[in-house]
Amino acid sequence: MSLSGCPEHIGIIMDGNGRWAKKRALPRSAGHKKGAEAMEKLISFAETETDIKFLTFYAFSTENWSRPKEEVDYLMQLFETHLDRLLLTTEKHDVKLKFTGDRSLLSPNLVSKMEECERKTSSNSKLCVFIALNYGGRQEIATALKGISEKIKNGEIKSEEINEALISKEMSSFAPPDADLIIRPSGELRLSNFLLWQSAYAEFYFSNVLWPDFSDKDLIKAIDSFNKRDRRFGGV
Ligand code: FPP
Repeated sequence: MSLSGCPEHIGIIMDGNGRWAKKRALPRSAGHKKGAEAMEKLISFAETETDIKFLTFYAFSTENWSRPKEEVDYLMQLFETHLDRLLLTTEKHDVKLKFTGDRSLLSPNLVSKMEECERKTSSNSKLCVFIALNYGGRQEIATALKGISEKIKNGEIKSEEINEALISKEMSSFAPPDADLIIRPSGELRLSNFLLWQSAYAEFYFSNVLWPDFSDKDLIKAIDSFNKRDRRFGGV
């Protein structure tokens, strides 16, 4: 049985891995590993039990490079190894995997793994999962504006033609519709440069659960809360 009436696009800020590990006197890396497993479980659940169309996970922000080198190195290695597992899961389920963010600072091995995931899942269609990796909402907007100014310079468009739809289109690495619901676990109440453009009319759901413990039940709670909201998009 599938949970119907779900938001079409849910964005998730996977926060609280470090605190999860600290509570158990484990290294922060243990929290990240458990967090990767939580992401994988939630993807399987969303595909089999809900009618969510797009899920975007915030895995690494443009600001996360400022963490200690040891942690950044661990995360990059985890992304690489965990993508193999995730690929098996997504191929078994009908899940398309895509990545958004600046790939130029990522290792060639990681980028080729990301491309392999995108290639091998490209014909899946029930659920599309975006992983935001070296992603920043401001950076994404700046890149789109750069693309538009190039087009103006080349005479492809006129500056009078700039509008919201054009900017959305220019964010071509990231094709889903605007986010309907943004979920942030771990008790923090901020957006941290996630989906700035796409969250203009998103509903927000905050939870005190730390990301590695975030389960299908917590997702259902978030969806239930979303379904009680009165979305007016600026109208009455
Ligand atoms: C934030 O929690 C979490 C991260 C910066 C990393 C999230 C990455 C994963 C869950 C792995 C995803 C796996 C793949 C394959 C994409 P935090 O470390 O800031 O937690 P804290 O606030 O409790 O310290």
